Amino acid sequence: MIERVKKHFNEVENFTSSDIKKIEEFRLSYAGKKGILNDLFAAFKDVPSKQKKTFGKELNKLKQLVNKKVKDLKSKSKTFSSKIKINDTSRTAFPIRTGNRHPISIVKNKIIEIFSQIGFSISEGPEIEDDWHNFSALNLPLHHPARDMQDTFFIQTDPDVLLRTHTSSVQVRHMEKNQPPIRTISPGRVYRNEAISSRAHCIFHQVEGLYIAKDVSFADLKQTLKYFTEALFGNSEIRLRPSYFPFTEPSAEVDIYWGLETETDYRITKGTGWLEIMGCGMVDPNVLKNCEINSDEYSGFAFGMGIERIAMLLYQVSDIRLFFENDVRFLNQFKPTI
Ligand code: DAH
Repeated sequence: MIERVKKHFNEVENFTSSDIKKIEEFRLSYAGKKGILNDLFAAFKDVPSKQKKTFGKELNKLKQLVNKKVKDLKSKSKTFSSKIKINDTSRTAFPIRTGNRHPISIVKNKIIEIFSQIGFSISEGPEIEDDWHNFSALNLPLHHPARDMQDTFFIQTDPDVLLRTHTSSVQVRHMEKNQPPIRTISPGRVYRNEAISSRAHCIFHQVEGLYIAKDVSFADLKQTLKYFTEALFGNSEIRLRPSYFPFTEPSAEVDIYWGLETETDYRITKGTGWLEIMGCGMVDPNVLKNCEINSDEYSGFAFGMGIERIAMLLYQVSDIRLFFENDVRFLNQFKPTI
């Protein structure tokens, strides 16, 4: 008799199926009214009394094994889960897969957080801009050669309406509406008529920063940037190289020391270890005048950076186009770890 029970142990253990019907058939064959378990329980009375105790124990074990097997297989079976989802509204909700934030949003939010901590507000402006806010007010009058630095998409044939080429246009809008002290950052999407490659795209994102108050100096700018790069990249060295932007004087480009540990480091820093991450400078008094801010009383600094560039560095992404393809295999890899 005991042998009979043991044989069933093997059978139950080896049974597997993900088909809900088969699992139910299996359950009935053991635990149904006319099932094997009932047969065995009925046979209990014929077991010699010496063996009754062991037989009873084994039989109970078999019953438990059958219950566990059915429960496990059912919870694994998809058909079962979806059935439950529809029919049993009192059941606790299944965990909902919420997806991930886009890497550009993760980096943007981090930059916003870092500047919010030192009192910068957020300002936003339109992506379709006019010539004044994107160029002229920023000390880039019509026909100024520096306009060529940013290849522009114009809307239809009107040269006054364009897709903003940088978020510096938001600076102008903010200064027109607010008097100093001003401390604001403007994140947003920008457009340039550039050939698309692994390093450049016609759409990308920037964060612009602006600080206007009394007696603002270049040292304040450098200190702010140092605070920012340390918060974002960890303890990193920065250097400022003289550069040219029409809206700032003097102007500089900011490099961080990225290091030369891996082959990728060599490639992205062109063997120098240094990497350019943004432009900056002291706001040109002409820009302040254009926005009706007294340039004798106030001075300020501004800076602007590309979010893709920074995301590529932080996440070691080698092709900018990946950010715009919305391939979930790419997007699923980003967790807000920074
Ligand atoms: N607007 C510049 C660009 O898109 C970046 C920039 C440079 C912004 C210097 C600034 C600045 O505010 O001071 O290339």
